[in-house]
Amino acid sequence: MADPERHPFLQGLSKHRGAPPTVVVIFGASGDLTARKLIPAIYNLSFDNLLPADFHLVGYGRKPIPDEEFRAIASKAVADFSRRELDAEVWGRVAANTTYVSGGYDEKAGFERLAAHIAEIEKSAGSQVQSLFYISTPPSVFSPIIQNLGASGLGGRYLGKAHQSKVIIEKPFGRDLASARALNAELRSVFDENQVFRIDHYLGKETVQDLLVQRFANSIFEPLWNRNYIDSVQITVAEDQGVGTRAGYYEQSGCLRDMIQNHTTQLLALTAMEPPGSFEAEALRDEKVKVLRAVEAISLDTDAARAQYAAGMTAGKAVPGYLEEAGIAPDSTTETYAAIRLSINNWRWQGVPFYLRSGKRMPRRVSEIAVQFKRPPGTIFPHTGGFDLAANTLSFQIQPDEGLSLILNAKVPGLETRTQPVKMSFRYATTFGSNTPEAYERLVLDAMIGDGTLFIRGDEAETSWTLYTPLLEHWQSQGRTGMASYPAGSWGPEAADLLLTSRGHTWRQP
Ligand code: BG6
Repeated sequence: MADPERHPFLQGLSKHRGAPPTVVVIFGASGDLTARKLIPAIYNLSFDNLLPADFHLVGYGRKPIPDEEFRAIASKAVADFSRRELDAEVWGRVAANTTYVSGGYDEKAGFERLAAHIAEIEKSAGSQVQSLFYISTPPSVFSPIIQNLGASGLGGRYLGKAHQSKVIIEKPFGRDLASARALNAELRSVFDENQVFRIDHYLGKETVQDLLVQRFANSIFEPLWNRNYIDSVQITVAEDQGVGTRAGYYEQSGCLRDMIQNHTTQLLALTAMEPPGSFEAEALRDEKVKVLRAVEAISLDTDAARAQYAAGMTAGKAVPGYLEEAGIAPDSTTETYAAIRLSINNWRWQGVPFYLRSGKRMPRRVSEIAVQFKRPPGTIFPHTGGFDLAANTLSFQIQPDEGLSLILNAKVPGLETRTQPVKMSFRYATTFGSNTPEAYERLVLDAMIGDGTLFIRGDEAETSWTLYTPLLEHWQSQGRTGMASYPAGSWGPEAADLLLTSRGHTWRQP
């Protein structure tokens, strides 16, 4: 068996046990994401003994909350949302070092109180402790938080390499190219790029990391991974939920900003990039940026479709249309579904369409990358009715029912040579069990140890916005003209089918 320490893609796993003494400060401590994802992630890291011995959690928010109450809120979050049950001893280790500081995001004095609080923690620890600031607030206060981290000296580079502070910044990272550039400039005025961790939680999903392992730890794929053998690629990120309680945010965002610009485009980049020289942050991100730069400008009228869900049925229940949902303008121009056809202008992918789609209120929650290979050049089997063999398709099932499957043509038993598509599958749950770590666990730990491999680099965010900003502006200028609709519980509008049928393709039924 290969020595794991010598295999380039397995090197460095042990580094996850070496996080330095850390204080994690969460801005937006009483927010939804904190309760649903961040606190449970920290709990599970503690469960797996992956937190440093000297670990502190500080909540920061506008609302004054006594320490004791914040600990109770956090403990309830673990009980409600963690993948593992609340274990009093494990949670007790985190709770003992959990505190809360209240202050405004644009209030310098609040950040000074925070700095004094961190200095106290260091004093009682008897050594320097790195600060990891997690900005999990609405984007309207990203800028004052970054400025105040700078002004209070907290974000600075002053502590020296080993104890540099770090910042994780939640999405949305800007709302177009100009705002993403401005946010990058603001971050750079306080932090070095290697201190900044722009999160896209899809990169923390086990199956997304597995995509890299499948591509680069198996030798059977790479020779076929190009325009000579691949006919087209479909990337689907479908949700069955509607807008729910997030109308305020979603009305300002829409599917292109919320899902395509980041999650779906990341899946595209990992599928299409060249093999990196190593599994290291800059090597990997260089390749992602390179392939994103090679994506051709989107033809605004022919390469994209947008739609809103209308009333329909989800999971056997009647649900309202987007325009009837609470908090949504009756003449809203926000799309809940988007489909795009992209072309990559390089030697590997010339002529291979990449179809991306995402939507709310689709028949079920499913994310997959389907790589469709070219059909055989002809058939020697008379009973296939001429030439109707299925195209070989390799699909990476990102979620749920995580796994990988390959469609092949097989002979149906019997005297006649009849063919039938069959599926060869690998399922995570069957092989590895189902209690896999959540994306946020991996990402919080990676940021703690300073590994940016699974985070978005500044130039990468800008490259992605460069691609989509003209389309966003076009849609905005069109108002509701060209906005299609699809019944809730369906796979999207006809306009999205046309993107494919015009090239002789059809959407897969994932
Ligand atoms: C978030 C979007 O980034 O991703 C949400 O803002 C979406 O609208 C969510 O529901 C989907 O994430 P997941 O991990 O459930 O696929």
